[in-house]
Amino acid sequence: MKLAEKINILLLGGGGREHAIARSLAASPRCGKLYIAPGNAGTASCGTNVEMEATNFGAIKQFALNHGVGLVVVGPEEPLTKGIVDFFESDPELKFVPVAGPGEAGAKLEGSKDFAKGFMMRHSIPTAAYRTFTKDEVEAGEAFLETLRPPYVLKADGLAAGKGVIIAPTLDEAKAELAEMLGGKFGAAGSRVVIEEYLNGIECSVFVATDGTNYRILPVAKDYKRIGEGDTGPNTGGMGAVSPVPFANDEFMRRVEEHIVKPTVSGLAAEGIVYRGFIFIGLMNVNGRPRVIEYNVRMGDPETEVVFPRITSDAVGLFEGIVCGTLDKYTLTVTPLCATTVVCVSGGYPGDYRKGFPVTGTTTSALRAATPPLQEGNCPRAETIVFHAGTKCVRKEVVTSGGRVLAVTSLGETMDEALARSYATISSISFEGMAFRRDIGQDLK
Ligand code: AMP
Ligand code: GLY
Repeated sequence: MKLAEKINILLLGGGGREHAIARSLAASPRCGKLYIAPGNAGTASCGTNVEMEATNFGAIKQFALNHGVGLVVVGPEEPLTKGIVDFFESDPELKFVPVAGPGEAGAKLEGSKDFAKGFMMRHSIPTAAYRTFTKDEVEAGEAFLETLRPPYVLKADGLAAGKGVIIAPTLDEAKAELAEMLGGKFGAAGSRVVIEEYLNGIECSVFVATDGTNYRILPVAKDYKRIGEGDTGPNTGGMGAVSPVPFANDEFMRRVEEHIVKPTVSGLAAEGIVYRGFIFIGLMNVNGRPRVIEYNVRMGDPETEVVFPRITSDAVGLFEGIVCGTLDKYTLTVTPLCATTVVCVSGGYPGDYRKGFPVTGTTTSALRAATPPLQEGNCPRAETIVFHAGTKCVRKEVVTSGGRVLAVTSLGETMDEALARSYATISSISFEGMAFRRDIGQDLK
């Protein structure tokens, strides 16, 4: 199977990740009309924003049918864990519209930590030792904690808006946390709690595109999750990212492919799970040996803002390979340039913050000069791209509408060169309360 030579595409989501995917899709000669739902002020420059929630399947159906959509690309996990792929496949009118992403069964890799851990055990994929406990098993959970060494890792089984992982420094705190989690702190997401061994090392993010049989490993990235410099303070959605990652060298990536990617793809197939989409593998490098921290069933954010700009092969062709089962025919090419992104966030984020502040400096003449438009196709050069995340356009003015507002991505011959470009661009951008980390990439030197 192949997609038509030119197709209309509906991209679901509205963050920096979706702006980066939209930019690459729009650069493809095979992209007809590109719709982004709901999109943001930045995606509007790549296609047409549609006021529609990514989880409103009924509205998505009508839109896809009315606008001749020939491919749906799903950015965030929520439509996937809620079964958008199964919804399309079981609808007589929609079943010919392919959706890039796993069905509900595959999305459990992200939607249930217990399922993901069981899957890794069944396929001998290296990960932290663990056990899962329910609310009737508090004492057994405490006994298991006593067998581990500090710090203690406790994870709510279900999706808890990225807040369901607790690292407790002492046994007493771990026991108190276990009781709170099983007592309903995270609602239904915490009705089961995974307790696991703490892995000591440095993390990176590996992205795999798969059609269920074949796969392509996309450029590796590292993200910066904490709000504060030196990786301090509370977790955020991500404050920056770099690609490539120096420690993820050929030998490390060979191990990742042999011990993790191959058994993951073949394990899904062996369990009868049809998986056509991205697998995001969060890895810990433990003395050169990769171990899986978590799976997500989508691309990462802000990692996508450094991964996609490095991909030089056709983005529509990549999605075609995923949904048509022809990834073996797709030649993935990647620029050797380094990419960095620095996220500008609203003051107060990840706690309470205000929205609606005007954003200036994202289209200054200096930036326009540094970032030529894309008519030449997706041909990376040393440039800066301001990806929008939490922004919207109100009466022709760009205003803040979320915690993470912009992801300022640059390419350069070296990571330092790219970083210098991102920070130079940020110096001309402003909105009230803007904050960003000045140490992205510094731990890798
Ligand atoms: P997760 O939501 O599973 O990615 O966990 C959030 C963060 O907690 C990860 O990015 C790691 O920094 C940390 N983490 C999770 N599991 C472990 C582990 N077993 N050992 C060390 N750190 C962990
Ligand atoms: N950057 C981590 C994530 O997308 O979950």
